[in-house]
Amino acid sequence: MTIQTLLSQPFAGQRPGTSGLRKKVTAFTQPLYLENFVQALFDELNASTADGQALTGQTLVLGGDGRFFNRTAVQIILKLAAANGFARVLLGQGGILSTPAVSAVIRRHQAFGGIVLSASHNPGGPDGDFGIKYNAGNGGPATETLTEAVYLRTQSLCQLRISDAPDLSLDLMGVQPLEQMQVEVIDSVADYAAVMRELFDFDMLRGMFAKGFSARVDAMNAVGGPYAKAILEGELGAPSGTVVNATPLEDFGGLHPDPNPVNAEDLIACMSAPGAPEFGAAMDGDADRNMVVGRNFVVTPSDSLALMTAYARLIPGYSAGLSGVARSMPTSCAADRVAKALGIDCFETPTGWKFFGNLLDAGRITLCGEESYGTGSNHVREKDGLWAVLFWLSLQGATGRSVEELVRDHWQTYGRNYYSRHDYEAIAVDVANALMSDLRSALPGLPGQRFGARSVVLADDFAYTDPVDASVSKKQGIRLIFDDGARVIFRLSGTGTEGATLRVYLERYEADPALQDVPVQQALAELVAVAEQVAGIHARTGMAAPTVAT
Ligand code: G1P
Ligand code: ZN
Repeated sequence: MTIQTLLSQPFAGQRPGTSGLRKKVTAFTQPLYLENFVQALFDELNASTADGQALTGQTLVLGGDGRFFNRTAVQIILKLAAANGFARVLLGQGGILSTPAVSAVIRRHQAFGGIVLSASHNPGGPDGDFGIKYNAGNGGPATETLTEAVYLRTQSLCQLRISDAPDLSLDLMGVQPLEQMQVEVIDSVADYAAVMRELFDFDMLRGMFAKGFSARVDAMNAVGGPYAKAILEGELGAPSGTVVNATPLEDFGGLHPDPNPVNAEDLIACMSAPGAPEFGAAMDGDADRNMVVGRNFVVTPSDSLALMTAYARLIPGYSAGLSGVARSMPTSCAADRVAKALGIDCFETPTGWKFFGNLLDAGRITLCGEESYGTGSNHVREKDGLWAVLFWLSLQGATGRSVEELVRDHWQTYGRNYYSRHDYEAIAVDVANALMSDLRSALPGLPGQRFGARSVVLADDFAYTDPVDASVSKKQGIRLIFDDGARVIFRLSGTGTEGATLRVYLERYEADPALQDVPVQQALAELVAVAEQVAGIHARTGMAAPTVAT
């Protein structure tokens, strides 16, 4: 086997979005497309030291969510890694590692960084999506500065270095040589499970299941299955069958592994049927997202973050209290109220987990979350679906209260932030861009304007100055904030692969317990009308209603 230098050419559009480079499988399977991106990444990383050899002798973590093209991509990346100086790759068995597991393995083994192969909740299969994301030595997603530099390199790259060695076994545990590099196939679950044991009271959780506590955790035929089975059924003694759709399939068995009430309809149906389990949850393609469900009761992700913040001290890993909390800008302000009561900071960041990294590394926050079914903590540098499941199980165990009781009690204490996100998918890109730029132009005229009983007190395009490194991220979403604290936010998705997706986020606060049980869409109807009036979504897109409202 030898290391080859191959001529390549730039591919247009290799710019990572909210969470790595995501494209159709048909884009990724073009000859040298994946190679080009990974070589640009390695070149950029190598250039980070004066000798241009930053990767020499280093360890890389590699794994993905098992979707179509995962195994092929692993073989390609191993051969590129061997030709670009790495001494060792820690590879999840079968090429499988969930996103939070990659983060955990990087941190526990003090690796240089890791590559996650996933398009998260986007559909899988030959006609579906594929994705690749680089995580740095802290275990978290690469910064925007790095992803932008990699993109620039992809646009001028003309050669790559790759080994011509035969394919390795991805399933055989242990060490295999590849050029000067050692490929170590590791248990995909072990490091992650060790982190969970450090945070949660496994004895208490075992006791709950031993006394007959019932749960249904839907892994949606995606990568969370092996983790949930090993920990919930294997270690904690939950009855076999607690984890459903537990085998990762290349096309997710036709399911859309995005844990929200629309896509996890089977779980929602089970949780509202007679004899429903006490607790339900679902995870997404790469197991970093979660949805928490009680009997006939769905928890809004923004509320989940607020409750976790309020109750964190009940969990051993957080018994010393929280240094602070952070949420993405479109996430509801429910956590802010808890943070205020606890006397801790609450940071508001742009959408995307990468913005939490600096705050976590600097010890400014312990918990963080997003409205898009993502919560996590300083235990890794990714959101973490199964961690959230264990957190909610622990809350029920420690308080003896049901999911619904916990949430209703929280609303009584702090008030309820009615919240919904409306997605308008597959809009023509020029239509979506025109909508956003017209909204931007209209911003100066909005403050003071009345809409029914409310008037606008702030209208801007959210900009974020990172409190740790002072980097500035602009144009992160258009916000209208009203005098009663209600908010309407518009932004375009940075993870889609078909046309553009407009996201409209709607929120209003209700302090009166007597008014906290209105159906969510009804409670937000006035704000939906404001969004329409300001942005003209129907006229511009022809869509009278969102494609998904959660
Ligand atoms: C979406 C979510 C965002 C999340 C990201 C990755 O990004 O909205 O909160 O961090 O997926 O899971 P978007 O498509 O909105 O850019
Ligand atoms: Zn995901």
